[in-house]
Amino acid sequence: MTDKLIIFDTTLRDGEQSPGASMTRDEKLRIARQLERLRVDVIEAGFAASSNGDFDCVKSIASAIKDSTVCSLARANDRDISRAAEALAGAASARIHIFLATSALHMEKKLRMSPDQVFEQAKQSVRFARNLMGDIEFSPEDGYRSDPDFLCRVIEAVIAEGATTINVPDTVGYAIPELYGNFIKNLRERVPNSDKAIWSVHCHNDLGMAVANSLAGVKTGGARQVECTINGLGERAGNCSLEEVVMAVKTRRDYFDLDMGIDTKHILAASRMVSQTTGFVVQPNKAVVGANAFAHASGIHQDGVLKARDTYEIMRAEDVGWTTNKIVLGKLSGRNAFKQRLQDLGVQMESETEINSAFARFKELADRKSDIFDEDILALVSDESVTNEKEQYGFVSLSQHSETGEQPQASIVFTVAGKEVKGESMGNGPVDASLKAIESHVQSGAEMVLYSVNAISGSTESQGEVTVRLQNSGRVVNGVGSDPDIVVASAKAYLSALNKLQSKADRVAAQG
Ligand code: KIV
Ligand code: ZN
Repeated sequence: MTDKLIIFDTTLRDGEQSPGASMTRDEKLRIARQLERLRVDVIEAGFAASSNGDFDCVKSIASAIKDSTVCSLARANDRDISRAAEALAGAASARIHIFLATSALHMEKKLRMSPDQVFEQAKQSVRFARNLMGDIEFSPEDGYRSDPDFLCRVIEAVIAEGATTINVPDTVGYAIPELYGNFIKNLRERVPNSDKAIWSVHCHNDLGMAVANSLAGVKTGGARQVECTINGLGERAGNCSLEEVVMAVKTRRDYFDLDMGIDTKHILAASRMVSQTTGFVVQPNKAVVGANAFAHASGIHQDGVLKARDTYEIMRAEDVGWTTNKIVLGKLSGRNAFKQRLQDLGVQMESETEINSAFARFKELADRKSDIFDEDILALVSDESVTNEKEQYGFVSLSQHSETGEQPQASIVFTVAGKEVKGESMGNGPVDASLKAIESHVQSGAEMVLYSVNAISGSTESQGEVTVRLQNSGRVVNGVGSDPDIVVASAKAYLSALNKLQSKADRVAAQG
């Protein structure tokens, strides 16, 4: 008999707290649907009380998702908990996740509360939440750096009040695997009612050990829930990476002996979706989802793999969503083949109109580029915001001129609320000139904090995918654009970022 490991994904909450990773409601919904396809057990959709924008995100995800539990974070007070419950009202299965710091440092310096006050507030908040719903998680923030005696006291009390999951965060990524595993084990042994709750681990990656610490918490500590994010997205060095922890437990089933509900073949699509949405590029040598994760370059390795795959491969690339057949579609491919490919890639489009518009863009691309790869399709789909008629700004056309010894100049036509306008400018290079041409008209005053170009499928024939990160009035947004012409891709990315700055006017960064 094995038992089950619950996978709790917090890409949309803790992941989004990473500076520059904030997402729009539609983007979050799309990622939530992908997480549901991946069959994660719990999706932490946001922090409902932190802003009206976050409340709306949690509410929309709660009503759209049917097969995963949807969770909202809440501070340990009645208002936060009521807001979370309100946002989750439409969910098929819902959870409130309450947190309150328990380390001496956080209590004294951040909360300015005594341990007794924290103890009472923790108890009271769980009691309040339990009257609203049955599934309540409690996290003693900075738990790993808390005094174990005090922690045991708080945990025993919140379980007695009805907390069903106890999560022990290593909030600052300070733990070492052996120590963290034993820390969880000791807590479970010392808390008298520990068997009345599921124990969970939540590790940050500041010392690069988030996955190792989480696995130790599971193996040694007996935790049965892991909190993680796609691509390890998260504040500072990030959170425990979902793809790594899941594939470790699956590949080393001989050691962990645990079941999971995850459908691993959707991992790669989830990774790409998160990377394209946030502009956080996945490093090529990243385990499981990096471009080189299954590439064998050395002759000895290639020879070995051809003779017997398991000489150098411990996982099958197909099991996490890599396709062996790289060329997927071309100029002659029809709408059905395109639709099927979208389905295989785990991309769900809301309506036939959306599919038609994506298909039209696919055809346009196929006219300019003979082989269309999965990466091209995913980029094309994530470009939706630029071509979406509901958006304030939309790309129409661009011309630019650059020549050695001359200052580049660009002229761009784009739409503002459906009406075509033209901007012209000189610049340091063709990209600079094009973006200045947009700004000459829009005058957003936004500061660019990141610009990056990535060749989607590796060669100069490939599409360029550009990420632009803009900051304005304390808000940070990412725009992504793709096109075989990187100057056009840059203009699309810039317009997409401007659209997000507009649509997120009421959002403030969630804090936790
Ligand atoms: O890292 C942390 O402590 C958190 C809590 C809110 C669970 O994210
Ligand atoms: Zn965290």
